[in-house]
Amino acid sequence: MRSFIHALPKVELHVHLVGSAGIDTVLELARRHPSAGVPVDRSELERFYTFRDFDHFLKVYWAVQSMVKSRDDIHTLVVGLARDLAAQNVRYAEVTVTPYNHVLDGMSADEVFAGLASGRASASALGVELAWCFDIPGEKGLIGARETLAFALTSPEGLVSFGLAGPEAGVGRAQFAPFFDTAREAGLHCVPHAGETTGPETIWSAVRDLRAERIGHGTSCVQDPALVEHLALKGIPLEVCPTSNVRTQQVASISSHPVRQMLDAGVVVTLNTDDPPFFGATLEGEYLAVASTLGLSRAEVARLAENAVLASFLPNPRKTSLLEGIASVLEEFDGGTHGH
Ligand code: ADE
Ligand code: ZN
Repeated sequence: MRSFIHALPKVELHVHLVGSAGIDTVLELARRHPSAGVPVDRSELERFYTFRDFDHFLKVYWAVQSMVKSRDDIHTLVVGLARDLAAQNVRYAEVTVTPYNHVLDGMSADEVFAGLASGRASASALGVELAWCFDIPGEKGLIGARETLAFALTSPEGLVSFGLAGPEAGVGRAQFAPFFDTAREAGLHCVPHAGETTGPETIWSAVRDLRAERIGHGTSCVQDPALVEHLALKGIPLEVCPTSNVRTQQVASISSHPVRQMLDAGVVVTLNTDDPPFFGATLEGEYLAVASTLGLSRAEVARLAENAVLASFLPNPRKTSLLEGIASVLEEFDGGTHGH
């Protein structure tokens, strides 16, 4: 199963750029910005990076965020992510970038975009195609929404979607509806986080008020059978991030993750990593964990990989070629017998 999962050409739909920074990338940034106080010694950094709890996650996340000061730093983040994706045979990723946070840290939007563009070109040379989702940091309120929309409307190369992240409690989705409307009119897809840390009402609001095309996480949908039915009927995919949900203590374990109920109900499930090195996650690891916990066959695992291709915002010819790639790997491993 492990080599089958590796061989599948994969798509990642939910990964945060700052949250994708692995040890090598953070060491490079820490040595470039020693005043940030992030360990410049590898083993010390590994200890700092070891996940303790959600508050510690936020502390590390903001420490990495604080070292992103120039287009070179953005470039370093993007190339580090692309290397990690290439090593796992991930061919395409939609990466969440929060330009407003970088601007609050003193960067100009042009510097952010320049780093994204050069990083994207280097990623492409590594065989990984990247697209961007600009997300509103919900905790920063309407000013963050206004600024994020303004950045998105300058149409940076590779931007495909508009998102909303950060804490959900006390940050209603509906207030952001006008920003999502304008983004949609400008041709951007709508992919808010919802139902990661709050209940199904947040997901309903993302669907009804923001007209979400996919949902980031959506974990709590299973608390409302009518919502599950709606998601299945409308084919609104979920960007499920199992290890992230376990690490942030939203679910107790992979085996108690509601991904099984989602699949049983016919919801389009995609597997993703969120902030992979922070949570000790990899995309291959997510596939392997779900496959072994649910006892999936290779054909069922291939179906999850197909879901991510179909739920992506790639143009149809690119989707077709990735789907053909998945089918041929399945054929190679199963020889047309579709066994386990
Ligand atoms: N930003 C980065 N990681 C996040 C998460 N797990 N939930 C909400 N916003 C985030
Ligand atoms: Zn996320």
